[in-house]
Amino acid sequence: MAYKVLARKYRSWTFDELVGQEAVATTLKNAIQTQRLHHGYLFCGTRGVGKTSAARILARSLNCLSFDQPTVEPCRTCESCVAIAEGQDVDVIEIDAASNTGVDNIRELRSNTLYRPARARFKIYIIDEVHMLSTGAFNALLKTLEEPPGHVKFIMATTEAKKVPATIQSRCLRFDFRSIPAEKIAAHFEHILQQEQIEVDPQVIRRVARLANGSMRDGLSLLDQLLSLGADKLTMDMLDDVLPVSYDATLTQLVEQLAEHDAGGALVTLDACLASGYSLERFAEALAEQVRTLMLLNVCGPTTNLVELPPAVAERMIELSKRFDQEAYVFMISVLEELRRNIRFSALGRALTEAALVRLASGTSYRSVQSLLAQLESGGTVGVAAPAGQAASGPRPMASAAPAAAPVAPVAPPAPAVPRPTPAPPATPRSPAPPVARPEPAPSRPAKPPASSGKQALPGKPATPARSVPKPPTPEDLRAATSEPLVREAMDLFQATLVNVERQEQPKQKE
Ligand SMILES: Nc1ncnc2c1ncn2[C@@H]1O[C@H](COP(=O)(O)OP(=O)(O)O)[C@@H](O)[C@H]1O
Ligand SMILES: [Mg+2]
Ligand SMILES: [Zn+2]
Repeated sequence: MAYKVLARKYRSWTFDELVGQEAVATTLKNAIQTQRLHHGYLFCGTRGVGKTSAARILARSLNCLSFDQPTVEPCRTCESCVAIAEGQDVDVIEIDAASNTGVDNIRELRSNTLYRPARARFKIYIIDEVHMLSTGAFNALLKTLEEPPGHVKFIMATTEAKKVPATIQSRCLRFDFRSIPAEKIAAHFEHILQQEQIEVDPQVIRRVARLANGSMRDGLSLLDQLLSLGADKLTMDMLDDVLPVSYDATLTQLVEQLAEHDAGGALVTLDACLASGYSLERFAEALAEQVRTLMLLNVCGPTTNLVELPPAVAERMIELSKRFDQEAYVFMISVLEELRRNIRFSALGRALTEAALVRLASGTSYRSVQSLLAQLESGGTVGVAAPAGQAASGPRPMASAAPAAAPVAPVAPPAPAVPRPTPAPPATPRSPAPPVARPEPAPSRPAKPPASSGKQALPGKPATPARSVPKPPTPEDLRAATSEPLVREAMDLFQATLVNVERQEQPKQKE
């Protein structure tokens, strides 16, 4: 018998079998049970989360021939149920809008809606990727949606709800399908592999479930690839064989280049990533995920359960994770998140991405307030970067040698605004030692935003500059000062940008 891919073999038959879409399933079941049926449904969500499956389940519920009214438990065996499951039913017409975008296609559909269903209760149109329709086609569809014949139902699915005109949306019931949590994907895999009588290393399941990234279909096709190796036990080694080589490696290489301040190399690697099929947005996401993995390794240690490392790359990742410190990770993730949001709305996505990489790579003098305090406490002078655009005390190595230093570039291209990092862990004052420059609670003089564009300042958030005070503070002083909300904010701000403590002493303020 020909091999049937898992995604088709294990398509959900009932609402209860839809994994991770409980809210959608419950609402639809209630509507059917109470006979409150709408004529138009819009299913939104990323690929592989069950939209088409749900559309077919709904169609079967409406049209199952074994019952004389719509049911939430369609029979699975009548002609309609069987044909709908295969997408071949005469009364349930599946249209792929991606390849039928034109107005003529929809006009034809409209004239067909006049005919009654051949054998079931309703004539149901399932329009997949409905956002691909042309404007003319949408207009034609709108007319039908306004006053459809009583025997017609529309179920539309889209991965890009934003592109579906509001006029269409307002005539449908909208359902948002969620990305499926990795644990639920894993549980589903276990169930499937049990039925396939395949033994599996639990680590493989967890890892594939994570790689699926919320999409059951993506996860199942990875699983298909593993099964195609023909073994009766799935192991982590096999997984390494099946994954595209470039999967982590290119991104790992890129982060290594960032650690080396190799901006040029990073840009070439970006080019390779894009050439291999990454979209800009996906790239920013994937890089952020990579940085997150490294951060977890750094913060929680190499043996943490939070990270699933393929054995082949574990050592390289663990080494790499030590090359940045915690502030650097917080900073990098916030830069990448900002980037991801900005490229979505910009025509200059690639330039923004490149600027962000240059910025991350040129990590000269980003220092955390904690490290500055520590250095002051130990009697050293603080050579901090000048505000954006001005190089300070020359490039500093990244955290590799001095764990307190973190990379952040003072470079200020027309890049995404300097993000406000997620609040850093509270600063724990180090051992008491005079003299110390400490933040002052009163925001008497707002710090000038140190970076290029106005966007970089945090509006309405005055930063309290660190100033030296004549009397050395006690540890209690320090603790009290750092627990002040204003001081905390100022410290967060310093971590995001660059501060020249020495310069703050000269009351020079340009506005
Ligand atoms: N929520 C889910 N629960 C169980 N299986 C799912 C789910 N979503 C997707 N699948 C699996 O992935 C395959 C493709 O899903 P599909 O419904 O076509 O996704 P979509 O239309 O959202 O892209 C299905 O045949 C099924 O095997
Ligand atoms: Mg689909
Ligand atoms: Zn049936």
